[in-house]
Amino acid sequence: MNEQEKINAALKAVSFISSGQTIGLGTGSTAYFAIKEIGRMVREGLQIRAIPTSEATRQLAEEWKIPLANINDIETIDITIDGADEFNKKLQLIKGGGGALLREKIVASITRKQVIIADASKQVEKLGAFKVPVEVVPFAAHAVARKLNILNGVATLRVKNGSTYRTDQGNYILDVSFGLIDDPASLAKELDHITGVVEHGLFIDLADYIIVGRGDQVEVIT
Ligand code: 5RP
Repeated sequence: MNEQEKINAALKAVSFISSGQTIGLGTGSTAYFAIKEIGRMVREGLQIRAIPTSEATRQLAEEWKIPLANINDIETIDITIDGADEFNKKLQLIKGGGGALLREKIVASITRKQVIIADASKQVEKLGAFKVPVEVVPFAAHAVARKLNILNGVATLRVKNGSTYRTDQGNYILDVSFGLIDDPASLAKELDHITGVVEHGLFIDLADYIIVGRGDQVEVIT
């Protein structure tokens, strides 16, 4: 993890934004730098409205006086800038390390230009060293864990500060190790069909650009 690489990627991503747009604000330590810069641009006169992907990001946006919109009042989002836990050259991602995968995926699904920002350590040949976060209805946690096991997934219930972690929607997260994943798109489809799964952290065909901070350079993968 390299903080300067995150900052460089974030600064490149915000250069895509212009006045009049609706912007999706991602969640996590890399998205933080983009949100902070957007706050600065708003203070300097940029006119946008933003949709946060988590309560943590909403708080940041409010702190920096970024105008917010209600997702239920809009049709599409022009640009979303978000982070990732892992990505590959096919622009497939694992997200949800910060627990915001459901809102992140909803926002991505109505975004025209989904821009992922990351430091170079997040790039992998094959996804799967990072466990796939799976958001589940609490009632279904055990049943889903058993189904995941049939797919060769080893599920661990996420715990934070000694208590079962709850998402912004009040759900649980199972962090699931599938080993290195040969076919993320097929696995994503399998996960889509498990009753009790609200959403999972495999993002397939959602990213349009990945901006990678690599040393003092940035690389744009499309
Ligand atoms: C949150 C996410 C984040 O984008 C992901 O965890 C990356 O975070 P960071 O930039 O802190 O490494 O998916 O749910």
